[in-house]
Amino acid sequence: MSYPSQLESCFIPLITLKSLKNKPIRRMIGGKPIVIWRQNNEIMAALDRCPHRNYPLSNGRIENNALVCPYHGWEFENGKCRNIPGIGKCDLSKFSLETLEVQIKWGAVFVRLDNSRPSFDFPQMPDDEEFDSFWWELKPSKARVFDALDNVLDPFHTNFIHDGFIRNKTKRQKVLQTIELSENKLAATYIQDADFGAMSRFLEGKRTKSIGHYYPPICFQGRWEGQKGLQHCVTIWFVPETENRMRSMVRFSMAKYRGPLWLKEILVRLFLFKVIEQDADALKELAKNIENFGAPHFKTSNADMLSAPFSKLYNGQKLEPKTIGPFEIYL
Ligand code: FES
Ligand SMILES: [Fe+2]
Repeated sequence: MSYPSQLESCFIPLITLKSLKNKPIRRMIGGKPIVIWRQNNEIMAALDRCPHRNYPLSNGRIENNALVCPYHGWEFENGKCRNIPGIGKCDLSKFSLETLEVQIKWGAVFVRLDNSRPSFDFPQMPDDEEFDSFWWELKPSKARVFDALDNVLDPFHTNFIHDGFIRNKTKRQKVLQTIELSENKLAATYIQDADFGAMSRFLEGKRTKSIGHYYPPICFQGRWEGQKGLQHCVTIWFVPETENRMRSMVRFSMAKYRGPLWLKEILVRLFLFKVIEQDADALKELAKNIENFGAPHFKTSNADMLSAPFSKLYNGQKLEPKTIGPFEIYL
């Protein structure tokens, strides 16, 4: 399976409020086009097809609080058809849009396709009083969401793909890894000093531990702690647009005392831009090669302790709660 199970029942961030202007926009979830727009000071989302002849409504415009389809000018207000130009009075009640449930959270628009099933918990975010936060909306890239989550949960690739930035190919340190499985999520804790890469030196003080959380179906959260507690938190939603293309929404939170927000944004963009590019290149290679062979093929070593529980959660299964480890690894 390339889409995670339960993709349709979870809330997925598609755009920030800042980026959503007065024009409808299109986003994709699991192959389905979604249109998002603002009207009457409200944010709405629907399947991106006009009920009349399937025209993409994201090509339309907002006029007098209605989303107007460019093909024949049908007007939709709050998802209901309010006018069909050129035909006088008629019953419009059967021409409504296929609207979707929307939630605004942390300054972003979250949408879900299927509200007949319970949703997943949102991840826990650091407190706004003590943390500065900002979003980063990445461009779509060729990648399978399964591989993106597997990549971000896997510390061992950082010594190679991010050599010099996060960790080092040749110089490693002893790290204690503990895996905590809960019914519906997992976390891996790494107790270690700061990494040897440049990013740690510029962005972190002394590290006490880092934790990687997987919140099914598509969210990862990394937390980095120092002597004063939580320093940085990065939450990423890997949104599958199609089977081989994803668009990531990333929210950064950094402890306020560590300096002004603008400086943090610049530093994060400076370093993470490269790291994200390195991962994106690797994920593109994986996706292309899996396409060549027609299906993925995985062998799992002791370095991939998270693989089995991660795959289970991704496929909608529950885990037996337990703690595994600590193990000594070298990163
Ligand atoms: S297709 Fe939209 S108005 Fe006809
Ligand atoms: Fe990476």
